[in-house]
Amino acid sequence: MQTRAAILDGVGQDWKVETISLDPPKAGEVVLELVGSGLCHSDEHMVTGDMALAPEVQEELGIQQFPIIGGHEGAGRVVEVGPGVTTLEVGDHVVLGFIPSCGRCPSCAKGQQNLCDMGAVLLAGRQITDMTSRHHRHDGSDLGIMCCIGTFSEVTVVNEASCIKIEKDIPLDKAALVGCGVTTGWGSATYAADVKSGETVVIVGCGGVGMNAVQGAAMAGAANVIAVDPVEFKREQAQVFGATHTASSLEEATALVMDLTWGAMAEKCIITVGEGRGHHIAPAMAIIGKGGRVVHTSVADINDTEVTMSLFDLTLMQKELVGSIFGSANPRRDIPRLLRMYQNGTLKLDELVTNTYTLDDINVGYQAMRDGENIRGMVMYDHG
Ligand SMILES: NC(=O)c1ccc[n+]([C@@H]2O[C@H](COP(=O)([O-])OP(=O)(O)OC[C@H]3O[C@@H](n4cnc5c(N)ncnc54)[C@H](O)[C@@H]3O)[C@@H](O)[C@H]2O)c1
Ligand SMILES: [Zn+2]
Ligand SMILES: [Zn+2]
Repeated sequence: MQTRAAILDGVGQDWKVETISLDPPKAGEVVLELVGSGLCHSDEHMVTGDMALAPEVQEELGIQQFPIIGGHEGAGRVVEVGPGVTTLEVGDHVVLGFIPSCGRCPSCAKGQQNLCDMGAVLLAGRQITDMTSRHHRHDGSDLGIMCCIGTFSEVTVVNEASCIKIEKDIPLDKAALVGCGVTTGWGSATYAADVKSGETVVIVGCGGVGMNAVQGAAMAGAANVIAVDPVEFKREQAQVFGATHTASSLEEATALVMDLTWGAMAEKCIITVGEGRGHHIAPAMAIIGKGGRVVHTSVADINDTEVTMSLFDLTLMQKELVGSIFGSANPRRDIPRLLRMYQNGTLKLDELVTNTYTLDDINVGYQAMRDGENIRGMVMYDHG
């Protein structure tokens, strides 16, 4: 069948919207008609080259990373199921997890579905089971798909391991956001930072991910939730999501935290800026006090290995620096759970989407993200 998708041909290019062809699903795969896709900053890392695999790695995997269909924050309806699919049927509503969860590998069995072994092929962008493509350009050439799902395609073919079935009364456009940004941000606060009642928590970067760390920290009972962002609109909105204080830089936040805590400093700091950089670590480690924890959720350049921080302070103040992928959450448990929280009014999703775009205007949406205009932008699909 034919559909339309936004394709990235290489680092530094714009997204190109083209009609593409889709192969039928193979064993364990389903065809999904998506309602739309969130414009997460991680796709921007494909554009900037931060996520570009070295040529020898691509050779080892037997794939070429580009051209690739972007997008990894979507939801939709199952329109066809391949042979052997046991967990889904036509008509089911699903959220796509940006990391698959098989349910039976050691990580899944341990309750760390975000670290599922199937995630090993995430950046290869092919079908999980046989590393081939179902998505093709008009000339028949293969197209990769971001996170093995490619939600910038109006219709896509994915492995059932990437699908989390949800109730049909949940609006799919809101559910899409939980496929990455919401779960990542909320989980960064509640699981990775393990925010406890009464704590002081600093969130650095309040976009689609960070805003959910703000609401996660507030929900977990933090006494002070300090939202840091250079953009005034983000700081204003952070208060809607539960921030008690705001600052335009980490330096400004440091003085504020010093004051608020009488010098004891924060228990937790969560880094959710658009581009992770080594130089963010030292000031983040300095804003936490004894026994504090910094969570790094931002994605950095794959080749960036330079981090400077005080190892003396790390040891003597017994501090922690941890990374977190997908909010350290279990998508099969947490996605339905977060959506129930939306339905009962405790989780904000409506307020996250600042602007929506047609697929043809996807580059306008990404420019708005770069310009700091959106908490989350979204492309919406019209299936007639
Ligand atoms: N670990 C994961 O599982 C995971 C999942 C999704 C996204 N991410 C990453 O998280 C990051 C945030 O994603 P997003 O979609 O929210 O991006 P975004 O562009 O929507 O938001 C980033 C925010 O950071 C702010 N910012 C930029 N520099 C800053 C600085 N020096 N200090 C304070 N704020 C600053 C921006 O103004 C913006 O509001 C990206 O790096 C993304 O790739 C990680
Ligand atoms: Zn994302
Ligand atoms: Zn698994």
